[in-house]
Amino acid sequence: MTSGPHTAEQPTLNKDVPWDSFDPGAYIGNNYLDMKTVDEEIVSRVRDHFSDRLRGSDRVLSGIDVGAGPNLYPSLAMLPWCRHITLLEWSANNIEYLQRQLPGYEGHWEQFWKVLREGPAYEGLNPRTLFRDAAHPVRGSLFDLCHTERRWDVGTMFFVAESITESLEEFRRGVGCLMNALKPGAPFAAAFMEHSEGYRVGDLEFPATYDIDTDEVRAALQDFAHLDDVHRMADVGHLVRHGHTGMILVCGRRKE
Ligand SMILES: C[S@@+](CC[C@H](N)C(=O)[O-])C[C@H]1O[C@@H](n2cnc3c(N)ncnc32)[C@H](O)[C@@H]1O
Repeated sequence: MTSGPHTAEQPTLNKDVPWDSFDPGAYIGNNYLDMKTVDEEIVSRVRDHFSDRLRGSDRVLSGIDVGAGPNLYPSLAMLPWCRHITLLEWSANNIEYLQRQLPGYEGHWEQFWKVLREGPAYEGLNPRTLFRDAAHPVRGSLFDLCHTERRWDVGTMFFVAESITESLEEFRRGVGCLMNALKPGAPFAAAFMEHSEGYRVGDLEFPATYDIDTDEVRAALQDFAHLDDVHRMADVGHLVRHGHTGMILVCGRRKE
């Protein structure tokens, strides 16, 4: 593992950041208005993972997307199996964004659904109706999941544990809190920025944990999960999510 510029003695912690000022419009403009190749790949892989692991299940499960932010594709990926999806999010602005999407989400999310519906489990579903009925934005913290008795059947966490703090200790704790919230055997998908130096949304800079690579991600998860696939995607030339070297997608299952 490499040591980077953000291994300072006083790393920025999750509590130090003005999350309520996160600008969902600016974030979507940077990341999700036009589907990037890397997100298309992530969506396809998550679709196939959930389709394999949840085959035969009716739409009765509970799902959770942790640090949902203004990204609907993780919850869209859970729709064929989940009657209830908790969208756990700490920023008031992002909660408000998610609530606005419930009656009918914005058109640019359709391009992600088109990738999902290439999987037979998604074919013929009405994602808008299912999303409206299943999705429940909830104001809360990833770290609260370390203390909850509640357990979910399926989970996602995209660009959160490493994108909310500079502290490696806090990153590891965050990953453990996600794992604590999953039932034994629950399939999950989680994505991480590799060696991110932080990111800008609108006028604000947000922290990231620099020392993240596939070894660190495996180490953070190994006590809790079977890792079906750890996939690194180099992101050279993708200037929007600046200052990182790639993305890591993990598809796995919570250990029994
Ligand atoms: C880089 S964004 C990722 C958003 C989204 N999951 C995605 O895939 O684009 C990080 C998100 O984590 C949220 N967040 C920050 N601290 C959090 C915490 N303690 N618990 C839950 N979410 C948090 C932020 O508000 C933001 O929405």
